[in-house]
Amino acid sequence: MRHKILTIIFLLFAGCILHAQTQLSIIPKPVEINQAPGFFTIDPQVSLQIAADQVALKPAADFFVGAVNDISGIKIPVNKTSRKKITLSVVKNFPLNNEGYYLTVTPAAVKITAKSYAGIFYGLQSLLQTFPQVRTNAVLQVPCMEIRDEPRFKWRGMHLDVSRHFFSPAVIKNYIDLMAMYKLNTFHLHLVDDQGWRIEIKKYPALTATGAWRVDQTSLPWGARPQAKPGEQPSYGGYYTQEQVKEIVAYAQKRNITVVPEIEMPGHVASAIASYPNLSCNEKPQLTITGGNYTDMSSNYCAGKDEVFGFLEDVLTEVMAIFPSSFIHIGGDEVDKGPWKACPRCQARMKKEGLKNEDELQSYFMKRIEKFIVSKKRKMIGWDEILEGGLAPEAAVMSWRGEAGGIEAAKMNHEVVMTPGNPYYFDHYQAGPEGEPLAIGGFNTLKKVYDYDPVPKELATEKHKYILGAQANVWTEYISTTEHLEYMVLPRMLALAETVWSPASGKNWEDFNRRLKYHFTAFEQKGLHYSPGNFTVDIMPISSGGKTEVELFSEMPTAKIYYTLDGTLPSSSSTLYERPIPVNASMLVKAVTVQNSTVMNPRPAEQAFIMHKALGKDVKYETPYSRYYPANGPNSLTDGIRGKNGIGKFWHGFSGTNLVATVDLGSVTDVSRITIGCIQNYSDWVFLPTAVKFEVSEDGQNFSEVGVQENSIPATQKGVTRKDFAINISPAKTRFIKVTAKVLPACPPGHPGAGKPAWVFADELIVE
Ligand code: ACM
Ligand code: ZN
Repeated sequence: MRHKILTIIFLLFAGCILHAQTQLSIIPKPVEINQAPGFFTIDPQVSLQIAADQVALKPAADFFVGAVNDISGIKIPVNKTSRKKITLSVVKNFPLNNEGYYLTVTPAAVKITAKSYAGIFYGLQSLLQTFPQVRTNAVLQVPCMEIRDEPRFKWRGMHLDVSRHFFSPAVIKNYIDLMAMYKLNTFHLHLVDDQGWRIEIKKYPALTATGAWRVDQTSLPWGARPQAKPGEQPSYGGYYTQEQVKEIVAYAQKRNITVVPEIEMPGHVASAIASYPNLSCNEKPQLTITGGNYTDMSSNYCAGKDEVFGFLEDVLTEVMAIFPSSFIHIGGDEVDKGPWKACPRCQARMKKEGLKNEDELQSYFMKRIEKFIVSKKRKMIGWDEILEGGLAPEAAVMSWRGEAGGIEAAKMNHEVVMTPGNPYYFDHYQAGPEGEPLAIGGFNTLKKVYDYDPVPKELATEKHKYILGAQANVWTEYISTTEHLEYMVLPRMLALAETVWSPASGKNWEDFNRRLKYHFTAFEQKGLHYSPGNFTVDIMPISSGGKTEVELFSEMPTAKIYYTLDGTLPSSSSTLYERPIPVNASMLVKAVTVQNSTVMNPRPAEQAFIMHKALGKDVKYETPYSRYYPANGPNSLTDGIRGKNGIGKFWHGFSGTNLVATVDLGSVTDVSRITIGCIQNYSDWVFLPTAVKFEVSEDGQNFSEVGVQENSIPATQKGVTRKDFAINISPAKTRFIKVTAKVLPACPPGHPGAGKPAWVFADELIVE
């Protein structure tokens, strides 16, 4: 008998698995968080309490009750008398900002106080991040803690391009849920672009009847899609009805998310022109663009026609009626002004308005639209091109082509959202690129996203207040499925969230990675696709004191690096990287990262190093190399690395000036041959030097010429040509070597830059 009772007690206990996090993993990291011993247990004795005058909190309460029910099956009652309470209260004179909150958890009670609905909602989100994110029979336990938390920025945004590929309202809601989980509050919905118009406009039904549909070539990469032919059936597309938009907006509002609609203009509107050809300059009918092929397509509204402005005011009126957002995004990017130059109406407008050029015509367009938007008590925001030709008086700027546009606008006291392509374009690669799904390009790793700060260093302190915040953009030319969309966003969105919410001073990459583990588990529990991170090994030469060493680096704090130097494929049984590797002979470094005994790279990183007498020695230039081509820094000519055919890496570049480099070998040395590697890359305005002169010196003052090698390859030779300029000398004793590579006087006749300064490039100065 006794044995049986013990068994029953044991079974009862085993059935009552406890779930509690030992170390909290909240992302974004709260401003202040103090964990205490003990737990508040979610059980049938718990109720949720809202004061009678705070019924506005009901949607937040319902959201939490629903989430807990999904996880545990416990339906927490609201405002029922109970032994244990979760109390939500909005208080006046709250010391934190509008979205801030206090969260206190003791074994007896949970309290969330805030100034507004937003703060209460975020307190509940922090609470939810202490639970598993999947149905469990475990007892939910919230660790005792106190949190004081508020966001650093007002605009914490994610963008989604639904034109290039259409995503259903259900996918949009999941995206909003993810944003809400990480306390992002602005959803920039890119509704209009060349390849699809995605919002119902009742006054202009063709926008969706025609402009929302294109011939389906989803199976081909974006750039390879042929244009539609007359007679082909447009079957790919979709759009949101105004009813669906209202539902999405309400869904977002409940989660403290403002949906900012983007109605792109005056360029990127081939879909509108396919629907209404008279909106363009040439008025020619066209089919909706299927992908990246723009041949003979009109993409711009005509800026000379008043009917275009009438059309846009009608469209914006319907848009503002369903999007309560104070900001309305009007695009403004990448306008090809060619059609305006050729259009008599546009030219007549310029004459009449006294506009000097087509940039000012775009500025006229934007100012006219802004006037309309402001008359409706809304604010206009656009991409940074709206600065060109003069910024509209009250416009806010979204800085995407780097930070320059944002800095310029903030200096003029205009509001700015930072969304620089590097690192905030989440359509760019985040790892690999070997083994990654095909992307548009770029390389924006999780660490790059985490490390970025939206307040530019060069911006004066009194202008910081104009930086509203930051946003990541998700363009979808290469993203056609929900799974792929999730993968591109997760986990980079979490790094963005921490940047825009948490204080910059508290950033800690290792701690972020520790907390990320909980969220990876959550993604798996929810069936979400995500990238485990960038496991590529960076191979970096470091020279000092005349010696060169190779450093290996991985972003992943938990991964180990293994390498080989003999050309063989590295594995977890190769040499473990523990300290920089000296370069004492020519060698080929191959390296992989290993996590949990698994090699994480489909292909190892590799880099060859060549040993020579100038390796690691200091180089002095007469004129500095361009800041756009810094390669590995000042001693790149002696780092042992030969360049590749692309000029972006490993090459020092000089524009319109000779490359004059002097290397100090440190002591008098026997030298028999000197070589400098150069490149011609016609389309990038890079040409081989006309000649290279070699000089030697023992004291660094008095040089004697030891030879000149002329160039024999014509500057008109297209494509990429590599050439080593070299000189053999009967063994000479020397300490200093000076090399002068003479730049081509100008880009040659027939070249797009004919007569303009040419570039000269070099990768290595080899001394034997
Ligand atoms: C953009 O990426 N064209 C704003
Ligand atoms: Zn025109």
